[in-house]
Amino acid sequence: MNLQKCAVIGCGAVGATTAYTLLGSGLFSELVLLDIDQKKAEGEAMDIAHGVPFVRPVNVYAGDYPDLADAGLVIITAGAAQAPGETRIDLVRKNVKIFRSIVPQIVRCNRDAILLVVANPVDILTYVTLKLSGFPASRVIGSGTVLDTARFKYLLGEHLEVDPRNIHAFIIGEHGDTELPVWSSANVSGIDLVDFCKVCGKCADMAGLHGIYEEVKNSAYRIIERKGATNYAIAKAVRRIAEAIVRDENSVLPVSGLADGHYGLHDLCLGLPAIVGREGIKQILDFPLDEAEHRALEASAAALSDVLAEIEP
Ligand code: 2OP
Repeated sequence: MNLQKCAVIGCGAVGATTAYTLLGSGLFSELVLLDIDQKKAEGEAMDIAHGVPFVRPVNVYAGDYPDLADAGLVIITAGAAQAPGETRIDLVRKNVKIFRSIVPQIVRCNRDAILLVVANPVDILTYVTLKLSGFPASRVIGSGTVLDTARFKYLLGEHLEVDPRNIHAFIIGEHGDTELPVWSSANVSGIDLVDFCKVCGKCADMAGLHGIYEEVKNSAYRIIERKGATNYAIAKAVRRIAEAIVRDENSVLPVSGLADGHYGLHDLCLGLPAIVGREGIKQILDFPLDEAEHRALEASAAALSDVLAEIEP
């Protein structure tokens, strides 16, 4: 397995932008692009490859499943995308069907890679990929709520007028309508958010921040209404996950992984902070939640389990 080789399956807005972002990341020396529309993969690979003289050398090309054989990381973005007004869950039937065709083809060529699922509904498709591949749970990762968490940090940073990198706060659960903010442990460089709010003085109390969560949850709808898709920030989120894996960083990221007793949840994938490194998900963290957060996480998990019960992976 070659961790410097990455495959991106699906060359839509998310796949192409992800490949473009990975080109400049310095993480990979080989990037192979696949799409059911071979010409589209070729066009994107050519366009991206022409930027190679401006970055560290990368071999970028359009390929087919046999080219996956030695790839250390396989990123799956293929699938129908949300139309304006559609929820991520509305995509489930179409995209499970697509994954039933893609995942066995990957597995036939490569049984050792880490699979990173990005297509929506990402938690459901991560679980489906886990079942279809038979890979260990550590090597089947969904992008989870990494993007939502970035949106959360960005919006909190704007509001509090502080560098979002100094904000430590998570969105967890479904990457979708039932996701939840973990206010109880949110902090700015170790300063409890409640205390930071007093210093900031912009709103009377923490309740003033709750609108930010609504904005995070509705971000994708707002962007899709305006430009038809989201692609840039998700590509950055995928790059960040890839970096944690390839550089064996043991970074804590809210990826989607198999809940196996965590918070009393079983047999589903959803976004929870996890330690991510070269082996994939090293450990899902059972970090403290207050009672309301725990209930909201259970409700999010129940919503995902209901969807899973309707499909036969
Ligand atoms: C996003 O949150 C649509 O899941 C995609 O941007």
